[in-house]
Amino acid sequence: MSSTVLVAGSANLDFVVRAAHVPAPGETVLGRQFRTFPGGKGANQAVACARAGGADTRMLLALGEDDFARPIEASLGDAGVRLHVVRDAQLPTGTAFICLSDDAENAITVAPGANMALQPMHLPPLDGVQWLLLQLETPLDTVLAHARAARAAGVKVALNAAPAQVLPAALLAALDMLIVNEGELDVVAGHPPDLATGLARLQVPCVIVTLGARGCLARSEGRILLQPAFSIEPVDTTAAGDTFCGTLVASLARGQTLQQALLRASAASALACTRLGAQSSIPDHAEVAALLADTARVPGAAAHAALATACAL
Ligand code: RIB
Repeated sequence: MSSTVLVAGSANLDFVVRAAHVPAPGETVLGRQFRTFPGGKGANQAVACARAGGADTRMLLALGEDDFARPIEASLGDAGVRLHVVRDAQLPTGTAFICLSDDAENAITVAPGANMALQPMHLPPLDGVQWLLLQLETPLDTVLAHARAARAAGVKVALNAAPAQVLPAALLAALDMLIVNEGELDVVAGHPPDLATGLARLQVPCVIVTLGARGCLARSEGRILLQPAFSIEPVDTTAAGDTFCGTLVASLARGQTLQQALLRASAASALACTRLGAQSSIPDHAEVAALLADTARVPGAAAHAALATACAL
């Protein structure tokens, strides 16, 4: 029987301009190419989950009744994601304004629009769902209600706490897995002095911290697992974290161990950084398998040792 992942969250149309550098406050920079890409943390994670293979992927999302919704629905549909769409006639489809610099840095401002119309009552029936994957670009009350409903139905709940915000204890208590980057860990764990303290403060069964170009670590069942990053030349890191989250949950849903899932998610996320755009950059199962088969590119023992030293755990 194939497993099912439900992603509940945001979808945006990304307006991307490339420039030499991301403008500082008050600065104007002349950019170069402008393009739009289907994005949004929830939709990106759903696409990553579907492209990872092995898990049926469904997504609950809210869109406006406008032209911005069309490329988003097309991208999700092409990836094979089954959609539960809440259509809001009053609000525009979510948008994100992204400046992408030549050194692959970005600055993102989101106008959530219809994403804010997602309500607790919109959660579809959870029959057959193994994992619910959530983010924080939709109302926090809705995220909490969906997490609690899934937990009550015996569905595993993963939250990518992005964009960072302080989380209510009730939400943390409803989670099986929390995925954060270092900035998000800082906010969610109340500005800990170091990684170990941050991990110790979070009473979630599995906490995963992504560390950018260094890799990631997981604390699960009292153990620390490390996964160094794949070495790449980044072009655009937009959706790298989303690719990691979607691939990770898809891998767990198809029965892989946490260490295997971290490896696969790291490989997919590295590939996503080598291409432009959000959903357009997310690799499929075959591309990830090819990278994993290239043993010269899979991080080895020295990379593990370096990451352990960097984490000081
Ligand atoms: O994580 C990347 C995403 O953040 C972009 O696609 C943008 O839409 C924002 O939601």
